[in-house]
Amino acid sequence: MEWKREKFRISTKKKELNIEYIHHFISEKSYWAERVPREIVKKSIQGSVCFGLYDGKKQIGFARVITDKATFGYLADVFVDERYRGKGLGEWLMQVIMLHPKLQGFRNWMLSTKDAHGLYAKVGFKPLETPERIMRINVPDIYKKASRKDTK
Ligand SMILES: CC(C)(COP(=O)(O)OP(=O)(O)OC[C@H]1O[C@@H](n2cnc3c(N)ncnc32)[C@H](O)[C@@H]1OP(=O)(O)O)[C@@H](O)C(=O)NCCC(=O)NCCS
Repeated sequence: MEWKREKFRISTKKKELNIEYIHHFISEKSYWAERVPREIVKKSIQGSVCFGLYDGKKQIGFARVITDKATFGYLADVFVDERYRGKGLGEWLMQVIMLHPKLQGFRNWMLSTKDAHGLYAKVGFKPLETPERIMRINVPDIYKKASRKDTK
């Protein structure tokens, strides 16, 4: 599927995704998956519904949804290139994702964010009402450990 706004496009075509660019951003510039290996990024893309944001042919943003396409969606790896922020592109990306026909009727949508709550609130996300009911296993330094081992 594809959506257009002025010179910008959002596409779900995986073949069009620039893996180098996505890997570079997530491994070098993200706070959530620093040093993630390229192969993990590739595998995560294979297993997700992905949304590439483009200026013409150039990729300038990304988001993916980890989902069973029936009951649950987890929004991950959302970013817009630094040079294109503050123009409403992140909000447009969120609107497109939430209206995607294969991502409707879910009982739960989740995500984790350090500071972009305002963006997600615009499409309906709210802080947990009952955090005591939610549990997780989190290994924040998993890729840092792996890369230390690799260099030995
Ligand atoms: C978060 C991010 C995707 C937003 O993209 P963007 O194109 O700049 O967002 P928009 O211009 O569409 O902004 C939409 C709204 O969200 C709000 N917003 C955007 N980033 C925000 C942030 N970091 N904190 C709080 N609100 C934010 C804006 O204030 C704006 O609301 P307004 O129009 O009422 O002012 C982008 O800043 C980014 O890539 N950041 C680094 C990666 C990141 O932190 N991703 C989120 C991981 S969960």
